[in-house]
Formats: sequence, C-alpha cells, structure tokens
Amino acid sequence: MRPTAIALALLLGSALPCQAAEPPAGRLLASQCFQCHGTNGISVSGIEGLAGESENEIIEEMREMRGETANDIMTAQAHGFTDAEVRLIAQYLATLPKGSSAGGSDHEGD
Ligand code: HEC
Repeated sequence: MRPTAIALALLLGSALPCQAAEPPAGRLLASQCFQCHGTNGISVSGIEGLAGESENEIIEEMREMRGETANDIMTAQAHGFTDAEVRLIAQYLATLPKGSSAGGSDHEGD
C-alpha cells in the first residue's frame, strides 16, 4: 500500500463507529443470570423468569438479596455486582419480551 492508502485506511478505521456490533452492556452482564433464570430471562425451570420484569423491581430485589446474610445462590449473585451494574442488568431485562421463546438478538430496545 502507498502511504496515502494507509493514511486513508487509518482515517476510515477511526471514523467508522464500531459500537453497532456490540451488544448492550446490560446484556453481557445479564447473560450470567440466564444460566439459571433461562435464556433471555425466559425460565424453563422452576426458577422464575426475569424477562419483562420492571426495572425497579429487579433493582430492589437485588438490593434486598445483597443485604441478606444467608449463604444461598442469589445472595452470592447479588454481591457480585455494583449498583451501576445491577441497574444496567435491570434496564436490559425490562426490555425483554415476556414469555416468548423468540431469539433475543432482534428484539427492540437495543
Ligand atoms: C446459579 C443460579 C442463579 C443465577 C446465576 C442467578 N440466579 Fe437469580 N435466583 C436463583 C434462584 C434459585 C432464585 C430463587 C431462590 C432465591 O431467592 O434464592 C433466584 C431468585 C432471583 C430473584 C428473586 C425472584 C423473586 O421474586 O423472589 C431475582 C430478582 C433474581 N434471582 C435475579 C437475578 C439476576 C438479576 C441475576 C444475574 C445477575 C441472577 N438472578 C442470577 C438462581 C440464580
């Protein structure tokens, strides 16, 4: 490549937004929850689903469980996230469609 071509490539590379391909931060964090609460928050086990829950409810429940001293599963989960992370998770979960088994990649709200 000639120097001008390299310069052009660098320019284009830095000008193109690359966020488009990244999933929302809340999704990355919430994927941890999906192990137990079902893929995309839709439960297939006895554990309740999280998809479409209200943001405030999830935040409140996570705070409550963090305050508990019991050595159970959700206390450990709740301790693992900061308030800001819990908010991102809750915001993301609230955007998920309830109860549908449709794939999560094309839902609205990203
Ligand atoms: C290892 C399995 C596991 C993971 C991972 C997990 N949970 Fe849970 N969760 C449970 C179980 C089991 C319960 C019900 C028993 C309990 O309250 O401890 C529960 C309960 C809850 C509840 C309370 C439901 C209610 O109304 O009582 C909320 C909210 C919740 N989880 C949110 C989350 C979020 C958000 C994440 C991800 C940060 C997460 N969970 C990750 C297993 C898990």
